[in-house]
Amino acid sequence: MSFKLVTTVLASFVVHIAASASSPNDVGFIYQGFRSSNLSLDGLAEVTKSGLLQVTNFTKSQMGHAFYPNPINFKNNSNSSAFSFSTHFVFAIVPEVSGRSGHGLAFVIAPTRGLPGGLATIFLGLLNISTNGNADNHVFAVELDTVQNEEFNDINDNHVGIDINSLNSTVSKPAGYHEHEKNSFDNLTLGSSQLMQLWVEYDGVDKRIDVTLAPSKAVKPNTPLLSLSYDLSSLVQQTMYVGFSASTGILAAGTAHFVLGWSFKMNGIAQALDLSRLPNLPRLHSKKVSKFFTLGLPQICIFLLLIVIFGVAYYLRRKRKFAEVLEDWELAYGPHRIKYKDLYIATKGFREKELLGEGGFGQVYKGVLPANNMEVAVKKVSHQTRQGMREFIAEIVSIGRLRHRNLVPLLGYCRRKGELLLVYEFMSSGSLDSYLYNQPKSTLNWSQRLRIIKGVASGLFYLHEEWEQMVIHRDVKASNVLLDSELNGRLGDFGLARLYDHGSLPRTTHVVGTIGYLAPEQSRTGKATTSTDVYAFGAFLLEVICGRRPIDPEAPAEKVVLVDWVDSCWRAGDIFQVVDQNLSTLYVEEEAELVLKLGLLCSHSEPRTRPSMRQVLLYLERSAALPEFSPRGISATGFGFDDITMSLSFSEEKGRSPSLTESVLSCGR
Ligand SMILES: *[C@@H]1O[C@H](CO)[C@@H](O)[C@H](O)[C@H]1NC(C)=O
Ligand SMILES: *[C@@H]1O[C@H](CO)[C@@H](O)[C@H](O)[C@H]1NC(C)=O
Ligand SMILES: *[C@@H]1O[C@H](CO)[C@@H](O)[C@H](O)[C@H]1NC(C)=O
Ligand SMILES: *[C@@H]1O[C@H](CO)[C@@H](O)[C@H](O)[C@H]1NC(C)=O
Ligand SMILES: *[C@@H]1O[C@H](CO)[C@@H](O)[C@H](O)[C@H]1NC(C)=O
Ligand SMILES: *[C@@H]1O[C@H](CO)[C@@H](O)[C@H](O)[C@H]1NC(C)=O
Ligand SMILES: *[C@@H]1O[C@H](CO)[C@@H](O)[C@H](O)[C@H]1NC(C)=O
Repeated sequence: MSFKLVTTVLASFVVHIAASASSPNDVGFIYQGFRSSNLSLDGLAEVTKSGLLQVTNFTKSQMGHAFYPNPINFKNNSNSSAFSFSTHFVFAIVPEVSGRSGHGLAFVIAPTRGLPGGLATIFLGLLNISTNGNADNHVFAVELDTVQNEEFNDINDNHVGIDINSLNSTVSKPAGYHEHEKNSFDNLTLGSSQLMQLWVEYDGVDKRIDVTLAPSKAVKPNTPLLSLSYDLSSLVQQTMYVGFSASTGILAAGTAHFVLGWSFKMNGIAQALDLSRLPNLPRLHSKKVSKFFTLGLPQICIFLLLIVIFGVAYYLRRKRKFAEVLEDWELAYGPHRIKYKDLYIATKGFREKELLGEGGFGQVYKGVLPANNMEVAVKKVSHQTRQGMREFIAEIVSIGRLRHRNLVPLLGYCRRKGELLLVYEFMSSGSLDSYLYNQPKSTLNWSQRLRIIKGVASGLFYLHEEWEQMVIHRDVKASNVLLDSELNGRLGDFGLARLYDHGSLPRTTHVVGTIGYLAPEQSRTGKATTSTDVYAFGAFLLEVICGRRPIDPEAPAEKVVLVDWVDSCWRAGDIFQVVDQNLSTLYVEEEAELVLKLGLLCSHSEPRTRPSMRQVLLYLERSAALPEFSPRGISATGFGFDDITMSLSFSEEKGRSPSLTESVLSCGR
């Protein structure tokens, strides 16, 4: 015997003791499942093995009755008024075909156990055509009606009604409930196979009938669905029977009406049902069909469905994985667009192993293009808005046409949602700054450094003056100089800073320019010019010769700002003290002095004093002599570390303001 059975037996045992022990006017009972009950059943009604009260099964045009076997006193004598009573039950209306339930279930109080004249279908097993509306019936019912019958003025096909001697309900409302302590009203569908609870309460003093419906898990609502002022004293006889009546329809499929638990109390409040102890509803629609249909077919269907779902999911995932953004205006740049799928394959799915580095704009991955086995570097730039993307792509593509042996060639681009991918030729020797700072990579010797400097100068000159449009690099620095297999310096990342100006990058990602390379006037105005590029180039020269960054916060105070340190060493007559220790004495003093002074000249705080890149090339080639200029004093430049940080935050502000930006490509020079 299961635990449930034991408790059910115990419960009903307790019930009967309670019923027989107290006053005959205070009858009460509770059925948490009906397994050991002694209900009076007729028609289709039966108690299933699991203890469910099944008032009807799926047979059509039939009815069933289930009554508490003993008569109950409803008043003291035939002349007195009716007692208060309350009942609570959990039910489910299960149609064979979902959405087509009929006809309904009713809680009923009647003078007899069987409702002998009751008819099926529209009469719910309660009455018949000749008795409907007759005061001699002494029949009280609360109907849970799932069919709209115009014969009885039904309001709809899903309502709860109070029936007094008649199937024409005295009052009725669409099924639903006011959630406990809330004002909302939620609809319920009676014939939905869902478990629901119903409370019917009669107040013998106030002469009021309250009917409350709720889903099975809900707390009893404060507000009843139906509340009718009515004196049942003349309807009820001294002893009555309580129970359930239900009927199935004529049409199509039948409906099973289940009651899972039921409590009743005369002159008191019905005991609450413990929902966890109620029997379970049977597996629905278990018609005996061949095993193929019950087992084989559904399994095959599920299998096929799974295949389809996986197929669609795979297709969608793949589609999303390789999705690109392509707008009409981009069609003109067709040859410069590279398929995301190709880049994905090239970088082996942007594997961490392929990560070359992480710059201010995003990660750079190494890859091999599947089409031509070409080694490339793919830069992933995340951007948030489309704003400015069109102009930027136009520039990228035009920059892509730049060809110079000291520039890193841009091969093409690809656009995805929130992501821009720029594809560059792969530079096998990596970036210059790793040679300068990340030992143990071999130290560059003097002639290599000089060659790199000349190469970068020539590349920058090409950008400024030799190409059809003037291009301002905006971010000249050692980490943007890449070395090819022959250790030629090649400028990379040109024009990328424009993406920031176009407002396509989040402000926090990058500052236009880099600390230590920003010309003072650029910090003030936010405006990049060829002259500000020259300033950065000056800082770069010092960086390469001295083997340290333009600003080193950890250096002793007088050495923090490289320009100032070189400057002060020159004034002190010992400029060679600044040359990279790694070179020891293996450098040409004359050339070192020239490059250091040129660096100072380029990084002069007064823009007009700075040479053009054309002049820089002449000085480097010794075709022209460096002009005489005196070391600047700190007071003259007034450009200490504090100023740099201050002006930097200032430039960030400017970078955000579009009015202060200007196009990197000043056309029609
Ligand atoms: C319904 O119950 C009746 C009486 O118990 C029985 O004869 C009939 O076969 C049942 N129908 C179904 C569909 O279970
Ligand atoms: C069950 O109820 C019937 C009356 O409907 C009664 O005759 C019978 O004694 C009851 N049996 C039990 C076990 O209560
Ligand atoms: C029924 O009678 C009892 C005692 O005789 C009395 O206390 C009770 O109020 C009466 N109830 C009604 C509804 O008349
Ligand atoms: C009920 O009332 C009727 C008339 O009002 C009276 O004749 C009858 O004796 C009363 N019955 C009881 C049981 O009080
Ligand atoms: C209607 O019900 C009454 C009483 O239950 C019965 O006498 C009568 O024969 C029934 N009429 C029909 C048409 O079933
Ligand atoms: C029930 O309502 C129908 C439709 O309005 C009406 O024809 C019939 O007479 C009513 N019956 C009763 C008993 O009120
Ligand atoms: C609830 O049912 C009524 C009619 O029965 C309908 O008018 C109303 O739109 C339904 N509300 C919701 C939220 O479905």
